[in-house]
Amino acid sequence: MVQNKTMGKYELDYHITPPKGLLNDPNGLIQFNGVYHVFYQWNQNETNHTTKSWGHVTSKDLIQWTNQPVALEPNDWFDKDGCYSGSALSYENKLYLFYTGNVRNEKNERESYQCLAVSEDGINFEKKGPIIHQPIGYTAHIRDPKVWQTDNNDWWMILGAQKENLTGDTLIYHSTNLTDWVCKGSLMDQKDEFGYMWECPDLVHFENKSVFIFSPQGLTSKKDEFNNIYHSGYLTGEFTKFGKFKPDNHSFKELDRGFDFYAPQTFKDNNARVILFGWMGVMEPEVEAAIPTIQDGWVHNLTIPRELSYSDGLLIQQPVTELKRLRQASPRITIAKANESYRLPTVQNEILLNWEKTAGSFEFQIRKEVSVDYKEESRRIKVTRTNWLTGNRESRAVTLKKPLVQMQLFLESSTLELFINNGEEVFSLRYFTTTEVNTLDMNSCTLGKEPEVTFYTLKK
Ligand code: FRU
Repeated sequence: MVQNKTMGKYELDYHITPPKGLLNDPNGLIQFNGVYHVFYQWNQNETNHTTKSWGHVTSKDLIQWTNQPVALEPNDWFDKDGCYSGSALSYENKLYLFYTGNVRNEKNERESYQCLAVSEDGINFEKKGPIIHQPIGYTAHIRDPKVWQTDNNDWWMILGAQKENLTGDTLIYHSTNLTDWVCKGSLMDQKDEFGYMWECPDLVHFENKSVFIFSPQGLTSKKDEFNNIYHSGYLTGEFTKFGKFKPDNHSFKELDRGFDFYAPQTFKDNNARVILFGWMGVMEPEVEAAIPTIQDGWVHNLTIPRELSYSDGLLIQQPVTELKRLRQASPRITIAKANESYRLPTVQNEILLNWEKTAGSFEFQIRKEVSVDYKEESRRIKVTRTNWLTGNRESRAVTLKKPLVQMQLFLESSTLELFINNGEEVFSLRYFTTTEVNTLDMNSCTLGKEPEVTFYTLKK
């Protein structure tokens, strides 16, 4: 987001970034009185994870964002070491924020309180204090309330949790008045362990299908899956009136195949669209500490907003249609051939690749830094970047369900979001290049299966 002062070479234009300091999870997503509100985990004064407040931006169109005063500060006994992640809902013209108060007691042990804050204008919040205390059978790693309404006087809350046996779980609570909450146990009856902690749970309700999104920590990588430090993904299934989620199967699917995506949150807007924002910044601490923007006093950004839909066992993710308003003038359209180089109009681009039938194998490079490689026979698509700490090339990959026919890339000075087959898969990543090269180089491409490429300049 463009600020008054310069944020340096890697400043982002159409992504939400903090004005300074560190941003992590999206919080409290809501459209309230017609205005979109995005809150985010914010360390206001430092580029590390020490103290978290709730930063706040608003927008009428999901494009132009206005900074608002910090919404929640960690200055009460129940949140003194951090106003951690949570969600929002509106009821009787008031905006309710549910968040986790993170506390370190005199013995430096963790305590977590699920707290409420209420606002009439959507800008100034009055804290109401804890509404849920520590449940039995769980460690103090219990946080990130996501709240929704199913009926009149009928609200549900889910919480990311760790059981005393140090395995991940999600708890569900019910309320008839938004302040008294009754624990209904685990959201899901699981047989198998799945990581040591589940963060940021979320339940999305489509017409005939519910999707449980969560961010488990402690999964073991296997082939193309689970190669980042932590992961976010989903299970499809049914949410029963007793507050249980019954998964269709146990195949947890990663939401994003890139390097840095984590802790997403969704909300339903006034047009009943399900919109997701994620954090584009999960990584090993030493890699995070080496991000070049730290020199300019800020670090991390949210993803662009994505509209979610459900189709045939899959969550489909597409950039919200409002992003088309970023497109400047008329695009440049060309057929991209092997060994040709194409100049990108600026560093903020949208690039569409369409194949007449299905794609052949190819490899192209963006800004001589990020490469995208597809093998027709295996339908495996691989994205490679340079790790800015080690200087090593590193890759993430996925095998597509259907042959490749379409790709849509959103590029900024240090971000790339790549949507594949109209949202069947997404790769999000940061990259930092010191060169000024601004090209797409089609290094190889099967003859007769060249894509039509459309280049748009993007600007807010
Ligand atoms: C996820 C997370 C949440 C927590 C927040 C603290 O990235 O660890 O579980 O509430 O970040 O900033």
